[in-house]
Amino acid sequence: MSSDNLEYKNRIKQNESAAEAYTARKAKKNEAEMALVKKAFDRCENIETVLDAPCGVGRATILLASMGFKATGIDLGDGAVKVAQRELEKSGEKATIEVGNLESLHFGDQAFSAVLCFRFYHHLPNNEIRQKVISELCRTAKDYVLISHFSPYSFTSIKRLIRDKLKIKRSIQHATTLASLTKKFESCGYQLLEDIPQARFFHTLHLAIYKKQYTL
Ligand SMILES: C[S@@+](CC[C@H](N)C(=O)[O-])C[C@H]1O[C@@H](n2cnc3c(N)ncnc32)[C@H](O)[C@@H]1O
Repeated sequence: MSSDNLEYKNRIKQNESAAEAYTARKAKKNEAEMALVKKAFDRCENIETVLDAPCGVGRATILLASMGFKATGIDLGDGAVKVAQRELEKSGEKATIEVGNLESLHFGDQAFSAVLCFRFYHHLPNNEIRQKVISELCRTAKDYVLISHFSPYSFTSIKRLIRDKLKIKRSIQHATTLASLTKKFESCGYQLLEDIPQARFFHTLHLAIYKKQYTL
């Protein structure tokens, strides 16, 4: 396995303490990210079932359940799944959380009205694995795929790039253009509906909504 791929695999939250650290993220950051997810779902129509992949410690799965969707969260990390199940129970919401791999999802075609893939794509080190994951998301969704990505045209991305080039801090997060992301979705029969930035030109995080195109 290449060192890039190994770096991505190392980020799987297998143990509970690594997963717990994610629940301790700054409240303001968490709120802003969940507001972005909510805003994107408010733009979609007729959603009943949602897959949150990967769910990490379950924050978006819980939000989606609270919005009235039948939500399922999957993550490859056993630790993340355990913590997410605990967080779900604490929240009082109802959802399903289980182990699953985004490179090969264990659900049938069009099993969910929408699939959310939040804060994951920027970890993927090359185009081959990016296309593999996108194909799986598109196969499993009936109508929408909502996917976050890191824009290269932002203060944060430029700062990371300079640090990386000057060897001050190596960046393991990959910014990609919206055009390259859209091309991959188009090859799976999806079109861009909207791309929502968290804070345009400042934060790197964007959430893009892709809609399946059905031909009559
Ligand atoms: C940065 S976290 C984001 C989690 C969640 N979407 C959120 O925003 O809170 C990334 C998660 O991806 C999981 N992960 C890494 N590779 C995976 C894979 N191939 N399939 C499923 N989950 C994976 C990790 O275990 C980790 O919990």
